[in-house]
Amino acid sequence: MLPTDFLDESHLNEADWEDLYGLARQIHRDPAAFSDAAKGKILGTLFYEPSTRTRLSFETAMLRLGGEVIGFADPSSSSVVKGETLKDTIKIVSSYCDVLALRTPLEGGPHAASLFSSVPVINAGDGSHLHPTQTLTDLFCIRHRAGTLTGLVVGFCGDLKNGRTVHSLSKSLARRGCTFYCISDPALKLPEHLKKELVLSGAKVYECTALDDCIEKLDVLYMTRTQRERGSDVEQTDALRLTADKMARARREMLVLHPLPKVDEIAPEVDDDPRALYFAQAKGGVSVRMALILRLLERPYVEKRVPFSHEKRRCTNPRCVTAFEPGLFPDTDTAHEHLVCAYCSHPIA
Ligand code: NCD
Repeated sequence: MLPTDFLDESHLNEADWEDLYGLARQIHRDPAAFSDAAKGKILGTLFYEPSTRTRLSFETAMLRLGGEVIGFADPSSSSVVKGETLKDTIKIVSSYCDVLALRTPLEGGPHAASLFSSVPVINAGDGSHLHPTQTLTDLFCIRHRAGTLTGLVVGFCGDLKNGRTVHSLSKSLARRGCTFYCISDPALKLPEHLKKELVLSGAKVYECTALDDCIEKLDVLYMTRTQRERGSDVEQTDALRLTADKMARARREMLVLHPLPKVDEIAPEVDDDPRALYFAQAKGGVSVRMALILRLLERPYVEKRVPFSHEKRRCTNPRCVTAFEPGLFPDTDTAHEHLVCAYCSHPIA
């Protein structure tokens, strides 16, 4: 059954995913049939980082369900600037709404919020860690167009170090037996701890530094921009830019996805190629968010507590929520035979 919060897409089992996909397809075909489905309910959107698509698609999703939206898109207009903790903000805002979407630069912030909240928490992106509703959007698009999510050959190109959309999507596809070509500048490679986790989950992972090294093998090409705001400062090179020439060498059925915004990693003429699906992909994001909100609202919410920790371990990730929020310790998750922080998935010291 779908967890009561939506923090990490890879926590969904196959039945949850099939159910969400089915509902999202139904909504996508006939959104008007759901126009009262969340009447009287309120979505809180707490966005501590800039966003266009994700915030607006959440708002559109709730409005199309007949619900209402409160929240902020700019933390400087909230009590955060006065030094309020995440705990206090979440305790208050969750008492004003029925479901919460949180975007924060603190990695593991949504997991922490779920321990303080009295309503379901949705991770709308936490630092470089995860972006599970983008992953639902990506899976929705791939499944609809390719007919399957299993055994695909997927190229991830761009900033694989700091791009949370790649981190989230690769975790979900790894358990479906996919093969990954990770195409990046050597300075922006996939983090080692994630690569290890993907291989342990069943993926084959190859690394290369140019699109030409693998483009003809791919079923899906997932392009991403350089995350300059997270310290990635590598210039875009031709080897990693998708152009009409490179598209000519790719399979006729290859799908090109991008979470957007795109900057200069895709040449403008590629937009007109029928294999370039990023605008349709973003549109589908509203339908999957509608389906997710509906399912989360249906379930009785189980309130949680911050786990008590005897051992005061530290997370090795300086951007982990446990380094900022008082009273949180990196509760360990022993999945995959090594100790990782249950908030942000980084190794524990
Ligand atoms: C992505 C994000 O915020 O991580 N955008 C989005 O949500 N559609 C990708 C990005 O900002 O590069």
